[in-house]
Amino acid sequence: MSINISTLLESRTACEKADAVDPLRNQREDFYLPQGLIYLDGNSLGPMPKKAFEHLEKAISNEWAEDLISSWNNAGWWKLPQTLGELIAPVVGAASGQIIVSDSTSLNLYKTVYAALALSEGRNVLVSESDSFPTNLYILEGITSAQQNIQRRLVGIDGDSLEELLDDNVAVVTFSHVNYRTGELLPIEELVKKTHEAGALFILDTCHSAGVLPVELDKWGVDFAVGCTYKYLNGGPGSPAYLYVAKRHQQVALNPLSGWWGHASPFAFEKDFQAAEGILRFQTGTQPILSLRGLQAGIEIAQTVDLQMVRKKSQRLTQLFIELVERRCGNYEVALQSPTDPEKRGSQVSFHCLNGFSIIQALIARKIIADFRAPGIMRFGFAPLYVSYTDVWDAAEALTDVLKTEEWREERFQQKHEVT
Ligand SMILES: Cc1ncc(COP(=O)(O)O)c(C=O)c1O
Repeated sequence: MSINISTLLESRTACEKADAVDPLRNQREDFYLPQGLIYLDGNSLGPMPKKAFEHLEKAISNEWAEDLISSWNNAGWWKLPQTLGELIAPVVGAASGQIIVSDSTSLNLYKTVYAALALSEGRNVLVSESDSFPTNLYILEGITSAQQNIQRRLVGIDGDSLEELLDDNVAVVTFSHVNYRTGELLPIEELVKKTHEAGALFILDTCHSAGVLPVELDKWGVDFAVGCTYKYLNGGPGSPAYLYVAKRHQQVALNPLSGWWGHASPFAFEKDFQAAEGILRFQTGTQPILSLRGLQAGIEIAQTVDLQMVRKKSQRLTQLFIELVERRCGNYEVALQSPTDPEKRGSQVSFHCLNGFSIIQALIARKIIADFRAPGIMRFGFAPLYVSYTDVWDAAEALTDVLKTEEWREERFQQKHEVT
């Protein structure tokens, strides 16, 4: 049965019927999700895969408690960054030997920007988007402050488009695949082509796309990529990020954080640094093994699903939510911030509302989890593996009710927390 939006918009029953024939309906069983919870925040932290319990249990009880240091060899701890990188590779369209899982996205961005700069002799400009996730801007700012000869140009501030900012001085262009605030999905292959035509290298941030839509790092010609694993890859809070270096750069690209894990012979304990072969040189120091062990289950789920199918459902979920909210909440000064064209939208829908923070708190009290990004953006993430059409219907109904009754004005929903 093909599922179309106009049918879904008719009634909750229509949504239930669509859920009953959804080919992804059984995937929800892979996750631990508290009863009665509608989780629309997988774009911030994915839920726990049930298998992660098993992996972590084993890592703690057997590998750490019983086997201790022998687990570096016997349980494959030392090679985990590489092993997990190989598991992520097909999920983001990368052939073998180009990915490691290690450190955070922020750190990996730093490593890749420096590596790309070193490959672009005679060029000194970094280009990014003014609406990048702040850490991306801060990392570039850190580099330009430390090295006065390097400059940063931002689309949205220094020019209106990438084309306007490209010239012979540009060394590196770094963009996010999906904007964290609006959910806008960028045409990466096209941007990479323009970047290469200008003689620069392209670094892609896939934090909001890896695991929820098709990513083709090799096919698109991306030079370097980074991405979180705790969002749509469901790796757990603070699970290490991934880093991709295209094979063609691996012989010459260098990691500026040249620690012992990236050494050619780490256990020779030599005085001088000699970079390891290939992607391994992008490691730096000892990794959080328990976090890495918690991550494997999430990647395995992403590996087994058909991401084209996930994408189709994601487009229907986001479209359904937009249309339901626009029909019901039009009078409440709730303004869509995400692209109306499903092809230009990631798996997230954002609405602006002045009282967005309190509205989100009121939804959370009703067990509908979404989040808020200042100033005024309400973000709703739709991860097709565990979000149903009925969830979307119920979330839109609840949002309407919170606005209509002005429940969000209650004192308890004004309380600010450290994390929004
Ligand atoms: C697009 C984007 N880039 C980078 C980051 C930063 O990741 P980390 O805190 O793991 O360094 C985030 C975090 O949410 C993000 O959304």
